[in-house]
Amino acid sequence: MEQIQIPFSIPMTPEAFKSNKFGKYNLRKLIDMKDHYSDKSAVEKILINENPIVYEFWENEYSGPGRGLSLGLTCIHPGKVGKEYYQTKGHFHVDNKGDEIYNVIQGEGLLLLYSKAGKQEEIRMLPGSLYYIPGTMAHRTVNTGISNLVFVSIWPPFIDHDYEIIVKNGFPKLVVEGPDGAILTENPSFNYALLKTQT
Ligand SMILES: [Fe+2]
Repeated sequence: MEQIQIPFSIPMTPEAFKSNKFGKYNLRKLIDMKDHYSDKSAVEKILINENPIVYEFWENEYSGPGRGLSLGLTCIHPGKVGKEYYQTKGHFHVDNKGDEIYNVIQGEGLLLLYSKAGKQEEIRMLPGSLYYIPGTMAHRTVNTGISNLVFVSIWPPFIDHDYEIIVKNGFPKLVVEGPDGAILTENPSFNYALLKTQT
């Protein structure tokens, strides 16, 4: 990857990040996400015929001198697995080493957060709004709309991300299709006691 020179500017669109080969490109297809949906039979049913893209993201980890900032752009495609909407894996920032900001560019969704101390939040995501994520809380984004959900992320460099704990325990809430759109339901497999044994 070519070294990005600072200062710089880039349009906040997936197309610009793609054409500029900005940062490291990551692709998450359904096969990569199979452990993140509660309806395992729905996952298997889809995978018989196809392996759709769930989300893609570009991340530019700052590695220069001084304190710097890392930034990226995420694009979650619209879709569902059974009744669960397409979502990111979600992660904790290891040892609470920094907070993060999201800025939604396009689409609509939900930001799910929870802390190991038991705090939970779900915040609606809309274009033009900014979201502040404390480093103490796991975060996952869910596309509840019919078009791509696109947002920019900014975080301090040198954060390690813990995805494994989410694979094992999920999030406290699931986002599923209800009669009039997305609704939140309790995740029957989530267990705070298990979470505490993993910290
Ligand atoms: Fe993060």
